[in-house]
Amino acid sequence: MKVLIATEKPFAPAAVEDIKKELATAGHEIVLLEKYTDNAQLLEAVKDADAMIVRSDKITPAVLDSAKNLKIVVRAGAGYDSIDTAYAKEKNVVVENTPGQNSNAVAELVMGMLVYAVRNFYNGKAGSELKGKRLGILAFGNVGRNVARIAKGFGMEVSAYDAFCPADVIEQAGVRAVKSQDELFQTNDIISLHIPATPETIKSIDYRTVNQMPKEGILVNTARKEVVNEEELVKLMSERKDLKFITDIKPDLDEEFKKFEGRYFSTPKKMGAQTAEANSNAGIAAAKQINSFFAEGDTRFQVNK
Ligand code: 3PG
Repeated sequence: MKVLIATEKPFAPAAVEDIKKELATAGHEIVLLEKYTDNAQLLEAVKDADAMIVRSDKITPAVLDSAKNLKIVVRAGAGYDSIDTAYAKEKNVVVENTPGQNSNAVAELVMGMLVYAVRNFYNGKAGSELKGKRLGILAFGNVGRNVARIAKGFGMEVSAYDAFCPADVIEQAGVRAVKSQDELFQTNDIISLHIPATPETIKSIDYRTVNQMPKEGILVNTARKEVVNEEELVKLMSERKDLKFITDIKPDLDEEFKKFEGRYFSTPKKMGAQTAEANSNAGIAAAKQINSFFAEGDTRFQVNK
């Protein structure tokens, strides 16, 4: 089978080698399309592919229409909002993700960005410490759990809210479960977002929600930019000069946010999962899933059933 690895944001070179090795064990042919700048390159490369491994690459109806032989797309990562899963289903293309494989990397970035934020972006002025601060984790999935684990090592007081995860599961992880999203925002100094982008969550982090945070609140986003209502957050931050916004996904209103000097930071490109380890873990998992799909019809990780 022909397997296309299509990554606009490439995997670390060692991870590409790991993926190739894994696919080669099943005798698959591998084609690599990295750093493509034009969607036409993707449309061309996918034409005769039987399987694809992607990251946040946009798998649109046009891509799926062009991919006449495609049977499976594996998103080497967690979020698959970049893939038109319903259209893929119509075309009998299985879509899978590799949950949990890159979550430690994202969680470590959260903590790194938090240290950067409380130390005033290393500007030489006295900052503060994370120890003793209250951290609220919104959604207790793989990334949220890793953030909780590391934050406890920093001596933070950790709470979480997840509309789909029972309170006792959160409590078993040694984290305080709060009853609502509002309560999470009201009772924490720092909020870290780990919700997926869905019709319910898009723009849900709005003026009203964030305005509930105590003085000197910090909002951290390593999830998806779509979950933040950017217009409303800009308005709020222009009114509340105590709030900070730290993000791993450059907002559409980046230029507006940049005006909040010392209170806003964005990575230039989404870096959360951009580690050699996360790339290898997610890439190898994706390759294994493709191998077992073709060998045994295994669709355990399918997200468009
Ligand atoms: C994910 O959904 O797995 C993360 O957001 C990482 O995305 P990336 O592969 O585009 O870095």
